[in-house]
Amino acid sequence: MARPQRVIHVGIGSFGKRWCREFLKTNVDDGTIEIVALVDVDPKALEYGRSILGVKESACYTDANKAFSEVAADFCTVVVPPNFHEAVVDVAIAHGVDVLSEKPIADTMEASVRIARKIKAAGRKMAVTMSHRFDQDKTTLRRIVRSGKLGRVNNISCRYQSDMRQHMAWGALFRHTMQDPMIIEGAVHHLDIVADLAGGHCETLFASTWKPDWAEYAGDTDGVVTMVFDNGVRAIYEGSSSTAVGLNDWYQEYIRVDCEFGTAILNHREIEVFTRQDLPRQKHREGTGQKVPLLVQPKWINHWLIQKFAEWRTGGAEMETHVEANVQASALIFGSIHSARTNALVKLQDYIHSFG
Ligand SMILES: NC(=O)c1ccc[n+]([C@@H]2O[C@H](COP(=O)([O-])OP(=O)(O)OC[C@H]3O[C@@H](n4cnc5c(N)ncnc54)[C@H](O)[C@@H]3O)[C@@H](O)[C@H]2O)c1
Repeated sequence: MARPQRVIHVGIGSFGKRWCREFLKTNVDDGTIEIVALVDVDPKALEYGRSILGVKESACYTDANKAFSEVAADFCTVVVPPNFHEAVVDVAIAHGVDVLSEKPIADTMEASVRIARKIKAAGRKMAVTMSHRFDQDKTTLRRIVRSGKLGRVNNISCRYQSDMRQHMAWGALFRHTMQDPMIIEGAVHHLDIVADLAGGHCETLFASTWKPDWAEYAGDTDGVVTMVFDNGVRAIYEGSSSTAVGLNDWYQEYIRVDCEFGTAILNHREIEVFTRQDLPRQKHREGTGQKVPLLVQPKWINHWLIQKFAEWRTGGAEMETHVEANVQASALIFGSIHSARTNALVKLQDYIHSFG
C-alpha cells in the first residue's frame, strides 16, 4: 500500500473543526493521509485540532509560511474564510505543495481566475471541495440523470430554504457581515449542483437577490437565479437563508430534473422517479413516484473528496472539481451577484473571459 500522503491543514474554525473531527480523521484512520502540521492564527483553534488529531505541539503553527518552510508536505487542506484562500495558496505554491481548498476558490472573481492561473503556471494540482455535489443523495440523482434512461434533460428546479435569520445562526461571523452571504456561501453549492446536472456550461443567467427585514445580516440572504446552459437546458434556483420555516435546509434540498421521458425528484434525501408511458396526457403527483434507494459507498462529501484528491495526486482520475473547471462555479456566483447589482442578464462565458 502507498504511504499516507503528508498534509498540512490550515484553518480550524467552525467548519475546520469538522474537518479535524470527521473528514481528516477518517482519512488518517484508513491510511490515506497523515497530518504533518496544523495552522491557524488562533492558538485555541490549534489546541482543538491537536486534541483530535494527535499532532505534536511543535507541528502547530500560527503562521502558514513558517509551517510550510519547516514541514515537508504533499498537499495542504485550506479551510479559512474565502478572502484568505489566495494567501494560503500562494504559500503552498512557493513551497511546491498541492492544494485542496474549501469553496469558493476565492472571495472575488478576479482572485478565483488569478488562483487558477497561478496554479497552472506553477504546474501544481488544486481542487475545490464542492462537498454537496458529492453527497450521497446528489450523487444518486446524478447517476439517474446521467444514465440517460430519462432522456435528455430539459429543465431543472432547485430550492434551498433555511431558517438561519438570527445573528450567528449561520455558523461564523463572516457570513453575517459579508455582502452576499446567500450567493457566495449558499448558492455556490446549489448552482454548482444544477450545472453538474445540466451537463453543460451556463450561457446566460439572471439573478435577483435581497435581504428581508427580519434577516440579521449585512448582506443579501435571499435570491432567485434563472439560467440557460449551452446545451439548451434551463434552470431555476430559489435560495433563502432567512426563511420562516426551513423547508429545504442544508442536506435536505429540493431538486427536480425534468427530462424528455420522465422526471427525477430529490427532496429531503429521498428520490422518486416518474417515467413517461405511451399514453396521452399523463398526470402524476409528487410523492407517488418510484422510490429509488440511495447509492451506498464508504465515503461521501469531504471524506470522499480528500481520498479523490490523494488518488489524483498519485496517478488516479483527475478531480472533477480541479481549479480550472471550478472557475465555472465561481462565475455562477459572481456572475449572479453582477446580474443582481446591474439588474441585467449576464453572458457567463464572456463574463469569465473579461477577467483574462
Ligand atoms: N463545504 C461546506 O459545506 C462548507 C461549510 C462551511 C464552511 N465552508 C468553507 O470553509 C471555509 C472556512 O469557513 P468557516 O465557517 O470554518 O470559517 P470560520 O471563520 O469559522 O473559521 C476560519 C478559521 O480560519 C482561521 N484563519 C483565518 N485566517 C487565517 C490565516 N490567514 N491563516 C490561518 N488561519 C486563519 C481563523 O482563526 C478561524 O479559526 C470557507 O471557505 C467556507 O466557505 C464550507
